Amino acid sequence: MKSAPWWKEATIYQIYPRSFFDSNGDGEGDLPGVTSQLDYVKNLGVDAIWLSPFYTSPNKDGGYDVANPRDVDPRFGNLDDAKELIAQAHKRNLRVIADIVPNHFSDQHEWFQAALKAGRGSKERERFHFYDANEDGTPPNNWISLFGGPSWTQVADGQFYLHLFDSSQPDLNWENPEVNADFEKTLRFWIDLGVDGFRIDVAHGLVKEDVLTNHPDPQGLSNALRLDVAMDSEVRNALLLTVPYFDRQGVHEIYKKWRKLFDSYGERDIMAVAEAWVHPPVNATRYVRADELHQVFNFDLLTAEFDSKVLFDVVERSISLNATVNALPTWALSNHDSPRVASRIGEEQARALALFVFGLPGSAYVFAGQELGLPDGQLQDSDRQDPTFLRTNGQIKGRDGARVPLPWSGNTTPFGFSTGKPWLPISQSWKDLTVESELADPKSSLHLYRNALELRKEFLVGAGGITWLESSQHGHKSDSLLSYSRGAITVVMNLSDSAEECEAEGKLIIVSGGTVDARDGKKVIPARSTAWFLA
Ligand code: NOJ
Repeated sequence: MKSAPWWKEATIYQIYPRSFFDSNGDGEGDLPGVTSQLDYVKNLGVDAIWLSPFYTSPNKDGGYDVANPRDVDPRFGNLDDAKELIAQAHKRNLRVIADIVPNHFSDQHEWFQAALKAGRGSKERERFHFYDANEDGTPPNNWISLFGGPSWTQVADGQFYLHLFDSSQPDLNWENPEVNADFEKTLRFWIDLGVDGFRIDVAHGLVKEDVLTNHPDPQGLSNALRLDVAMDSEVRNALLLTVPYFDRQGVHEIYKKWRKLFDSYGERDIMAVAEAWVHPPVNATRYVRADELHQVFNFDLLTAEFDSKVLFDVVERSISLNATVNALPTWALSNHDSPRVASRIGEEQARALALFVFGLPGSAYVFAGQELGLPDGQLQDSDRQDPTFLRTNGQIKGRDGARVPLPWSGNTTPFGFSTGKPWLPISQSWKDLTVESELADPKSSLHLYRNALELRKEFLVGAGGITWLESSQHGHKSDSLLSYSRGAITVVMNLSDSAEECEAEGKLIIVSGGTVDARDGKKVIPARSTAWFLA
């Protein structure tokens, strides 16, 4: 029997290359920097790395503004560096996932430059969404960019082009077959270079049907679509049901074609994970039907409160919805677009939630630095580079806090990240959060992650579904404890601020913080902590 494909329950480590490790002292991380730290990554116990974009880019949106998708930006190195990174990763049995950005190009891409020159009505403009102004000179509709400000920018001859993100990121017109042909070329280019899979940026956005329709609350909608803007979940969910430009049927036709392309590489098991934040949540399962993509990101834990009812619902819903299409969920607590989990819900809670999630079926994504328990960086406004900050005149602070470079070693900032000045400042207060200092402390977050990922591999990967434990002391009926069993392991999370007794059986094998005591034959789980017991 064929064993499960490598990605099925993989743990995937997200690297934001600019912030990982700087090999040449220019203050920005680069591909040779990533290569130089692959032993660290391997020792963490992950199966794969996902690299955020490193392609040629003017870097107006952290590289998600791609000017040439088949080359490496000089700030990150060159194609030989990419090949070497992939080879060194494979040598360590780590898979490599590249980030592909099909919703838009950079305005510096040769296609967009040609479209500007060729003018109204040209074939070059048909690769993007160019429209004439309304009769009163206003843009074709009232949409607000996800980064703030209008979704339209006017060019010299009076036409407007659509950009759901920054004005430097013109949206591509996927009705034009040249667009798909070019992306298939890009997919093959990277697969031929050795990558094992793709993270598909804005996977739900490619097809636009109602480009000329106004929205009743465009600003509310734009805020609702941002992971870094806090909002009442009911208000957010109601708005998210009204997005006019995401999750159209046509995107699935694209992914069916791409799936055939991936499958044509046979045993290489090329995979793709969709960044598709869609509503209602059942829609996400369409992206992982058997003839489409392999995984879809689950964004729920990036915004969920540390609350037993909320977390029970998220886990239950994710597992059961995915099961309807025979897929497994994905779990992520942090990424480069959202506040770091330790800042959002608290340090101890973040450790507890990570250990809770590592036991669940499916793939776990870990954002570099999460394993160290890093909080968001404290930045001055003058440090900020996120286009959201710039486009909202500072009203929305943006995502730079999650992107502060990693602290590696030593006692003074920039803690071995670079010999130069890091592109975002690293606070001196991170002294005890460096890789070096956490390696020396058996109780550190880093050791917790390493131990947990080892145990996950030993006892949980492939262990099937979970069973909630629902006595009055367990499961979602309790406000304080959330507990499930899977295979030989029982996982108990205590969400409350006091120690709680539970009836879990078995031997304690890991705890996210504090000490588990025994009392009257019961186990006492410390406040804000998760424990695993082996039967
Ligand atoms: C999602 C990416 O994760 C984010 O960083 C980027 O700004 C937008 N897509 C636009 O590409």
